[in-house]
Amino acid sequence: METFQSLLAKKLSDSLASAGFSDAGELTPATDPRFGDYQTNAALVLGKQRSEKPRIIAEKIVAHFDVNHLCEPPVVAGAGFINFTLRPDAIGKKTVEVLRDERLGIAEATSKKHIVIDFGSPNVAKPMHVGHVRSIVLGDALARVAEFLGHEVIRDNHIGDWGTQFGMVIYGWKNLLDQRALQRNPLAEIVRVYKETNERAASDPQVREACRQELVKLQAGDKENTDIWNECVAFSMQDFDHVYELLGVRYDIQCGESFYNDRLAGVVERLLKSGIAEVSEGAVVVFFRDIPELADRPCIIRKRDGGFNYATTDIATIDYRVNDLKADTVWYVVGAPQILHFKQIFEIARRQGYKADFRHITFGSILGEDRKLMKTRSGGNVPLRNLLEEACRRARKIIEEKNPDLSEEEKIGIAQKIGIGAVKYGDLSQYRMTDYVFSWEKMLSLQGNTAPYLQNAYVRVRSIFRKAGESAVATPLRGVDIGGQQIETGRRPVATALSLEDSAEINLAKRLCQFAEIVPQVLNDFRPNILANYLFELANGFHTFYEACPVLKSEEPARSSRLAICHLTARVLQRGLDFLGIKVPEKM
Ligand code: ARG
Repeated sequence: METFQSLLAKKLSDSLASAGFSDAGELTPATDPRFGDYQTNAALVLGKQRSEKPRIIAEKIVAHFDVNHLCEPPVVAGAGFINFTLRPDAIGKKTVEVLRDERLGIAEATSKKHIVIDFGSPNVAKPMHVGHVRSIVLGDALARVAEFLGHEVIRDNHIGDWGTQFGMVIYGWKNLLDQRALQRNPLAEIVRVYKETNERAASDPQVREACRQELVKLQAGDKENTDIWNECVAFSMQDFDHVYELLGVRYDIQCGESFYNDRLAGVVERLLKSGIAEVSEGAVVVFFRDIPELADRPCIIRKRDGGFNYATTDIATIDYRVNDLKADTVWYVVGAPQILHFKQIFEIARRQGYKADFRHITFGSILGEDRKLMKTRSGGNVPLRNLLEEACRRARKIIEEKNPDLSEEEKIGIAQKIGIGAVKYGDLSQYRMTDYVFSWEKMLSLQGNTAPYLQNAYVRVRSIFRKAGESAVATPLRGVDIGGQQIETGRRPVATALSLEDSAEINLAKRLCQFAEIVPQVLNDFRPNILANYLFELANGFHTFYEACPVLKSEEPARSSRLAICHLTARVLQRGLDFLGIKVPEKM
């Protein structure tokens, strides 16, 4: 479906052509709503190109612009901007189109991609901590949007399940393990022995050597060590899966680092053969002498002792994703400390002739109330699982106050939606690069730009329909699905436009139509916060509308129109929050 923006852009292009100009500038939402709904800088761009007065060019463009019921005659403003204001009847018509569209007006992408999204990717023998939440939540949201836009998406969990740490884990398992503690809390016990071994190895060269031996044995396929490794992986996965379930996140594949193990030697051979890598001081290394920022940052792909590393695995991973999974696009949702690593890896891929589009999607940190990296009281990493469980507990308290009569089962379900939603939204409503302060009060507030505020707006609409019952079968809604219930098309004709009069309802309807313009933008620079902000403004628009315009008590045709707008608001909120991985409760 065409959006207002795309319709106006086409009309602009036509008017430029008939005024004798080439296509220029952009048509964007208005920066200031007082001047209209959309604007273009076309005349400014052309003015510069042709050394002519922009305002005069703008007047010519406007004179050739065919408004055709869509907007008021455009207005030239300032140095030569052209402003467009949509007509209420055009908005009323478009709203019905959106209402009748399962996709709420969102068109599929014109070129479909094969995208592998690498997100989450925690390390075995370490619990997931709050630092992982951004990658998981951001990666999941991008996957949801990309899928909806028609791209082929593979969600891949690149688990750190191989590497030098296993020498220590195995040594610790053999020498320090407390079986009872292992039964009580397996991952905590594995982490404990790993930590303790690490400390011992730091001061005792013999322990260090013993760990190295264990690693060599594991890598050589020793049965005992392989069994221990398998057990550690299984225990860790149990913990990860619990977190994924709480978060409602799924993966299509979970090819951890170990998956690539037997491909690493081949990778190094190929890179040596093609001259991309060379032997340097006994190691195999890729140099980037021609790239200033990497000139003194060579990438080691085989260590002097013959061992492979994180980088080697990532090069093998690219082979697999491009050749086997047929990816033409790979997104790595990984924190900023790995920027250098991915620059190197992508450059190596480029030298190998890979044409796929590789993106490192980085993000900032989560801070505690003291504005330092978020830590537990004892200074450790905050385990993600505890954090999510606390979110649900706190949400439960709010429900208890707000709606004590709900059943126990309802309370549990709603608390999870609100608690998890709050954590996710607290993250996704921020620009991903900014560090943000984690605050329970702020993210669980029912006021302001929070998930509970948006969920509450949804609940309000739903309660209107509960109140309205059968009589809510309003003309513009005929044939439309209301809350899972298909409304029969009666004998009366289906309205093709809403009658919009009050400015609050016009504004709300306009915003609803703009959902389709916003969603694709999320992928431009990987910014779900654009969508979050849109939903927040939408909820504000709904509250303004709700104060200004009676719904159930108004007369026809306003009543039907308003019910239709309410219905669409709920659908857009639900769909939009679903893109962010957030569920809506029916009551709260
Ligand atoms: N396991 C890594 C870490 O926790 C993240 C892996 C990211 N993905 C990748 N292909 N390197 O730092």
